[in-house]
Amino acid sequence: MVLDDYGKKSDLPIHNFTPKKQNTFPPLYKKIVIGVTSIFILWYLFLSGGGEDRPVLQIPDELDKLKSSSHQLYKATKDGIVEIELKENSSAESESSAGGVKAEEKTPISEDELFKQTVSYYDLNDYRGTGDGLSQGDVVLFLMPLRNAESVLPMAFHNLMNLTYDHSLIDIAFLVSDCSPDDRTLETVFDYSVHLQNGTLVEKFQSEEELRKSKKFRGSSDLYQLYMDQDYINNVRKSYNNPESYHKDYSKPFRSVSIFRKDFGQMIGQGFSDRHAVKVQGIRRKLMGRARNWLTTNALKAEHSWVYWRDVDIETCPGTVIQDLMQHNYDVMVPNVWRPLPTFLGNEQPYDLNSWIESDPALELAKTLDEDDVIVEGYAEYPTWRVHLAYLRDARGNPNEVLDLDGVGGVSILAKAKIFRHGVHFPAFTFLNHAETEAFGKMAKEMGFTVGGLPHYTVWHIYEPSEDDLKEIAKMERKKRRKGGK
Ligand SMILES: *[C@@H]1O[C@H](CO)[C@@H](O)[C@H](O)[C@H]1NC(C)=O
Ligand SMILES: *[C@@H]1O[C@H](CO)[C@@H](O)[C@H](O)[C@H]1NC(C)=O
Ligand SMILES: *[C@@H]1O[C@H](CO)[C@@H](O)[C@H](O)[C@H]1NC(C)=O
Repeated sequence: MVLDDYGKKSDLPIHNFTPKKQNTFPPLYKKIVIGVTSIFILWYLFLSGGGEDRPVLQIPDELDKLKSSSHQLYKATKDGIVEIELKENSSAESESSAGGVKAEEKTPISEDELFKQTVSYYDLNDYRGTGDGLSQGDVVLFLMPLRNAESVLPMAFHNLMNLTYDHSLIDIAFLVSDCSPDDRTLETVFDYSVHLQNGTLVEKFQSEEELRKSKKFRGSSDLYQLYMDQDYINNVRKSYNNPESYHKDYSKPFRSVSIFRKDFGQMIGQGFSDRHAVKVQGIRRKLMGRARNWLTTNALKAEHSWVYWRDVDIETCPGTVIQDLMQHNYDVMVPNVWRPLPTFLGNEQPYDLNSWIESDPALELAKTLDEDDVIVEGYAEYPTWRVHLAYLRDARGNPNEVLDLDGVGGVSILAKAKIFRHGVHFPAFTFLNHAETEAFGKMAKEMGFTVGGLPHYTVWHIYEPSEDDLKEIAKMERKKRRKGGK
């Protein structure tokens, strides 16, 4: 904390800022040259009347799409989904029913009343966030981007309910974007959110599970589990069967649930080879940055002290994760992210390589790149020799050990809301040769905020067997059966 010029407490990382002296007026001849040039340019643009070779300003299709594409905001209540209409000409939000909820009748109100309803006062010093936020009543904004995520949503909602941070202090906002036409992510989020707020989601999952069991043929889809570390599998089973045993407020409704729907346009396919070509990665990351920024700016309200970003495809995560990340009182804090693997592939592996400490070789490398190039980790093209948080994990290490970082991954980020208010965001352009979450970490650092990670505190990403892994498993099964047959 520093004292600014007016002696007030401020958490702005300002160090003796002195404005530069403006130059005095340019000499007369410069003024004339500038004047004449401007007139010529204006004439050329507007009056020369469409010469054949006049350059026409082209707006790329993608940008056009972004500008024109609409979005919707839905609120989930225990009684159903309410669509909030965002009227163009007034800032007033009006509700319309979509799922059985009647919008309230509007009655004429006096000017005094109108003033009271439309003028709000917040002292943002009250929402700065502290390490013991839970006891201070800090409100957390929980943000989750979703895309073709229908199949993993039950897992994500189990993880939500498992959070032991007081649910009545958490606002949830989902962003559903760019799903394929036959995908039902939006409908499923609606359905689960209504049950979540009604306190009946656990029962719903239980009846769905029974239905699934009664229908299912004996296990081809779960076969791979036999080839996983059994301690891990048992822990997963325990986490999802009778989950309420973890804490008494498992089914407690949250402060609010908002669901945004907006498409950003898909520039590239989702095929594996597409997704992983190094150049395409940069483009993809920028698009994801755009979506993240869109979600933060729409969902962040004055009363939020913290923002917690979470990916949908986390299988197990300690229910205390928000408090555990918060207690260090960093401006940005991430855990380690690993994923399990079949035993024949080594049981487990580091998953998120985007959390790292900057290195000299990487800084040298950046100097040789184009201004617009995006460095992505894990590619031979970009040998960065950085220290990755993921590789430092010791399963028996101290989960409270903190490491200062430069880049961060987006799987699970707890950040103070104030950093977004200061303008830190997820660059959708190349910032210091990075984009999205890695650039977010770098930008927070550049602006004087603290960025850290916990090397021995682990969140587990889901393992989905690849085609090759499934083939390998099938081969081993055949071998097993042949042996059994003898
Ligand atoms: C919004 O305002 C503009 C001009 O201010 C007007 O032309 C337009 O018709 C208005 N739209 C609606 C939906 O009221
Ligand atoms: C909400 O829960 C009550 C029981 O607690 C149940 O009767 C009702 O149907 C539920 N509402 C919805 C929309 O599921
Ligand atoms: C819920 O929290 C407990 C305790 O922290 C943890 O052991 C369990 O794996 C969590 N469940 C999920 C689904 O992550």
